[in-house]
Amino acid sequence: MSKVTVIGAGNVGATVANVLAHKDIVKQIVLVDIVGDLAKGKALDTWQQAPIDNYSTSLMGTNDYKDTANSDIVVITAGIPRKPGMSRDDLISTNANIVTSVVKSVLEHSKNPIIIVVSNPLDVMTYAAFKAAGLDSSKVFGMAGILDTARYRAFIATELNVSPKDIQAILMGGHGDTMVPLPRYTTVSGIPVTELIESTVLDAIVERTKGGGGELVKLMGTSAWYAPGAAAAQMVEAIVKDENRIFPVCAKLDGQYGLNNIFVGVPVVLGKGGIKKIIELKLDKDEMKLLHDSADAVKEVMEVFDKM
Ligand code: APR
Repeated sequence: MSKVTVIGAGNVGATVANVLAHKDIVKQIVLVDIVGDLAKGKALDTWQQAPIDNYSTSLMGTNDYKDTANSDIVVITAGIPRKPGMSRDDLISTNANIVTSVVKSVLEHSKNPIIIVVSNPLDVMTYAAFKAAGLDSSKVFGMAGILDTARYRAFIATELNVSPKDIQAILMGGHGDTMVPLPRYTTVSGIPVTELIESTVLDAIVERTKGGGGELVKLMGTSAWYAPGAAAAQMVEAIVKDENRIFPVCAKLDGQYGLNNIFVGVPVVLGKGGIKKIIELKLDKDEMKLLHDSADAVKEVMEVFDKM
C-alpha cells in the first residue's frame, strides 16, 4: 500500500489528509509544515478520529523531509492562501519560491514520486513544480478541474433541485476567471443540461462557477478548503486504486488542442503512474477560442514566472 505525503498542513492540506485517511486506501500519510508542531497536531487529530470512523491509515506530522522518504504520491498545498481583493496571480512569486523549494526537498528523499500541485496560482505553480522536479509530465500535474467542475455541478444541482451525484460535467482551461465550463458536455443523468435549464440561467451558472473561488474568499476571508481538499484526495484515490478515472486535470500540453508547453486544465485518464492519456475533445470554434484565450492568460503568468 502507498505512502502519501501532503506538504502544507493548513486548511487544504489537513483536509486532504483527513479525507484521504477516511478512504482507508493508503498505508501512511505524512503531513509536513514549516510552522512548529502544526502538522504533528493535525496528523494526531486525524489519527484520533480513526477509532470513531473506522480507518487504519496511519498518520504522522513533521517538519523534517526525512520522514517523507519513499513517498509514492506528494500533494503540495504549501503556500499562502488568497486574501480578499487579492487575485490568484498576486500570489505568484511567494508561492513559486515555496513550491520550488518544497519539490527540491521532496526529491532528496523520494526518487520518482507523483506530484499533485494544489497551491495557487495553480497552473503556474504546476509549471514551477514540473521545472523544479525534472520528472515526466505524466507525473506532475495540478488539481483544479475537479474542484471547478464540482462547483459547477453543485450550482446545477441547486438550480434543478436534484442530487449533485447525477450531474456529469467537464470543464477546461486555466484555474481562474478564464476557465471554460462546457454546457455542451454537461448532462443530468444522461439528459443534456441544455434541455433542462434555459440558456440565460445556464450562462449565469457558468459565470458564477468562474468566480466560484472568489465568492468563497469573500464569504470566509480566506480561500476554500473542504471541496479543494476532497478533490485532491479523489485524484490520489484514482492513482492508488488505478481507477482510470476521467478527470479534468491541469496537465502539460505538447500539441494537444493546438497548445504547446503549457499547463492547463484538460480531461485526462488518471490511474497508476499518473496521467495515462490526455483526451482531446472535438471542441467547436467558440469553445476552442475560449480555451485558447484561457491558455493565453495562463501563458502570461508563466512568462512572469520565467522572468523571475
Ligand atoms: N513548507 C511547508 N509548508 C509551508 C511552507 C513550506 N515552505 N510555506 C508555507 N507552508 C504552510 C503554511 O505554514 C501553512 O500551514 O502551508 C500552509 C498553508 O495553509 P493555509 O495558510 O491554511 O492555506 P490553505 O487554505 O491550506 O491554502 C493552501 O492551496 O488552494 C490553495 O490558494 C490556496 O495556495 C493556497 C494553498
